[in-house]
Formats: sequence, C-alpha cells, structure tokens
Amino acid sequence: MIGVFDSGLGGLSVLAAIARALPRADLVYLADTAHLPYGNKDDAYIRSRVLRIGRHLVDQGCRVIVVACNTATAAAVAAFRETFPGLAVVGVEPGVKPAAALSRSGRIAVLATESTARSERLAELIRRHAGSVQVSVEACPGWATRVETLRLDEPDFVEEARQHLAPLLAAGVDQIVLGCTHYAFLCPVLETIVANKATLVDVADAVARQCVRLAGTDAHGQGRLILLATAQPERLQAALPALGLNWLSRRSSSTARLVVA
Ligand code: DGL
Repeated sequence: MIGVFDSGLGGLSVLAAIARALPRADLVYLADTAHLPYGNKDDAYIRSRVLRIGRHLVDQGCRVIVVACNTATAAAVAAFRETFPGLAVVGVEPGVKPAAALSRSGRIAVLATESTARSERLAELIRRHAGSVQVSVEACPGWATRVETLRLDEPDFVEEARQHLAPLLAAGVDQIVLGCTHYAFLCPVLETIVANKATLVDVADAVARQCVRLAGTDAHGQGRLILLATAQPERLQAALPALGLNWLSRRSSSTARLVVA
C-alpha cells in the first residue's frame, strides 16, 4: 500500500498523478485537516505532525509514503526518514531544477508557504540547482487556506494573485514554480495571469514517476483508494468534484473516514 499525505487538499494534486501512473496500486490518502495550514507553523510543530501521520500510515500497512507537501518535506523529511528507516519515502520539493533548465530569461520564481519560503532546505535546493539563474522566492500567505475553502477563482483572489505576480512578470520571470501542492488547484487563475509571459512548473508527475520506480510489488494491488482525515472527512470527499477529481472517488472503496493521529 502507498500512503500519501498533506495538511489538507493540496496533496490530492499529487495523489491524482500517482493514481494515474499506478492504476492498480492500493492508495491511502491522509489529510491532516485538524492541523492545517502547516505553512504558518514552526518546524517543531510540523515535524511532530509529520511523524504522527507517518506512524499512522505505517500502522495501516504502507511501505511507500509520499510526503505530498513541500512544507512538510522542507521541515521534516529528514526526521521522517530517520524515524522510519525501512520505508521508501518520497518528498515533494519545488521544481527549481527543471524551471532553471527551461528558463530563457535567466529569472524564475518559486511560490510557496511562509514556512517553505524561509526554509534552509529551499535555500540549499536553489544553491544546488539554480546555477546562474536568478530565483525570487515568494511567500503566498493564505493561498493554501483559500484552496481548502474551494473559493478558487473569486475576483478578490484573482486581483491578489495578479498583484503578487505583476512585479515578477515585469522583472522578466519566465518560469513560476508551484512550491506548494495546494497551488496546483489555483492553476486556472494563475494561467490566465501569466498567459504567454511565463510557464507554471509543477512536480506532481515527476513525483509519480519516482513512486513508480519505488513501488515494487505495491504497484500491483486492487486499485483501491482509502481517504482519511484528522477532521471533517466529509469535506475531503466533497472536494473531489470541485477540484476536478471525481474520477478518484470512483476508485475509493468507502466514504472518507475520520482518524485520530
Ligand atoms: N500543501 C502544502 C505544501 O505543499 C502545505 C500547505 C499548508 O498547509 O500550508 O506546502
């Protein structure tokens, strides 16, 4: 069984890519909705949540775990790997490397939560992979929470996003990295803003390919999906159609369940 988790709905963008890549794998998705957002919490808090969630998924029988959250990966994937040495762990990190390789202007931006934006892990990723490309790191407070409320394209957000991105586009940024898994669901709005000036870079498909490499016999199950949440599991289920993921609920064998973790 492959476990995928996030603070809330964002990791569903990664789950969808994994479900497409591994149609017969048994998947469990856990949304830590009682503790979201992670992006405005300190590292110790995020680490303790991530280890609790990891324990729960291991107890469910997961042998591959995807940390479908940039914030949790930046703050806690090292501790996670140390705590569960026998597991195959896949983290999600902003696609700085592909964005830098694709950039023609030599300027890219990373949109992320406050926690990811200030993280040493992101700074190191940029040092390792950006080369001579200039990288602007932009914290986007409240964006993940907006996705949670499913108010994805309201005019106030369109205006806020436009204002946030305008200086980047004016400075010649031509690749914009979605450094939070929630932001994939904001793509329709962001696409209209960046239009033909910049490309949005998401790593969900690359994460799914890594899962395929690591899945081993876990690739061959019955194609089931279990949905779990630490609060309001019905919200998780109800969000699928709004996020264009109704096809995922057909894979789910039961309604989303509440878990204590
Ligand atoms: N989806 C998460 C990420 O990729 C976290 C969002 C949040 O809970 O703040 O960063």
